[in-house]
Amino acid sequence: MRSAGLIERYRAWLPVDDETPVVTLGEGSTPLLRAPRLGARLGVDLWLKYEGMNPTGSFKDRGMTVALSKAAQDGAKAVICASTGNTSASAAAYSARAGIRCVVVIPGGKVALGKLAQAQIAGAVVVQIDGSFDDALRLVRIMSEEHPITLVNNLNPYRLEGQKTAAWEVLDDLGHVPEWMCLPVGNGGNITAYWRGFREAHERGDYDRLPRMLGSQAEGSAAMVRGVDFERPETIATAIRIGAPVRREEAGAAARDSGGGFAAATDREILDWFGHAVRDEGVFCEPSSAASLAGLANARRDGLVPEGAEVVCVLTGHGLKDPDNAIAESAPPVTIPAERTALEAVVLGDGA
Ligand code: F0G
Repeated sequence: MRSAGLIERYRAWLPVDDETPVVTLGEGSTPLLRAPRLGARLGVDLWLKYEGMNPTGSFKDRGMTVALSKAAQDGAKAVICASTGNTSASAAAYSARAGIRCVVVIPGGKVALGKLAQAQIAGAVVVQIDGSFDDALRLVRIMSEEHPITLVNNLNPYRLEGQKTAAWEVLDDLGHVPEWMCLPVGNGGNITAYWRGFREAHERGDYDRLPRMLGSQAEGSAAMVRGVDFERPETIATAIRIGAPVRREEAGAAARDSGGGFAAATDREILDWFGHAVRDEGVFCEPSSAASLAGLANARRDGLVPEGAEVVCVLTGHGLKDPDNAIAESAPPVTIPAERTALEAVVLGDGA
């Protein structure tokens, strides 16, 4: 099923028709992994939705397959987006696949290395600005309003239509509705998309309940948690370094209407859970994704999420996106001469 991509898997419920040229890289159908050790650490029955396994390494591919397929159908010659990195990597790849020109605008010096490499090698025009993601978004909106260029940020309605399929995969794989869905929040697009997916499945009569939605943010850009925009967002979780969430209202409604909420975590807490995820379970995600775990831990501490609850945490992006933080959080390699005795000393534990 995976190689066909999510438009084929969920065609009946997506805004495509027989004329739509499907632009796919085989996205979706990502693993839902049980996480017993990490769950014990959090005091919950934990599952991980490993979205880093999408073709460009993040959940953005779900929205991009629909957005670029529709752009191709509409005869678009160029697309543009602002990005903290993952959207640009995904837009660059799907645009290449579609044969459409792609321009990405990013906050200079604040995009993780892997993401930058992906956009550059795929031939996108990569523009760095001396400003934040919020500044970049303001500029690309003007470009798309005044020129024949299609915006592929999540203001593009097709993006969320694609992203909501992740909720259906969780339902398909679990066979029931989890008590809690936990995910990192930047612009609030993904939490909006999941909530829409769950509600649609509920309205179709497939499931009789809805999950509670928990959105996690970094303390330095916790615009949803605090209820105000952040003029100068700052966090090591650069993917969610966003001060003015575009989908503030809908994301707020998802948390409120589901009986969930928002939680903040410090950079140190986010990095700790980034380490726990890979050392407890072997699941390597980017630090921004681990914000979902750090926020969940704090929501447990504050009594919002009860002990033993069944929780699905979305790990939105792959760890290889951000090698700098992984290396900074790790012990350096043990360096020895190329000699048997030196290696033996390390292997047997009396060296190093
Ligand atoms: N996790 C990752 C890895 C992301 O890249 C993003 C957003 C989010 C979570 C938050 O999702 O914005 O829908 O609430 N990244 C965007 C980008 C902003 O440009 O790649 P959201």
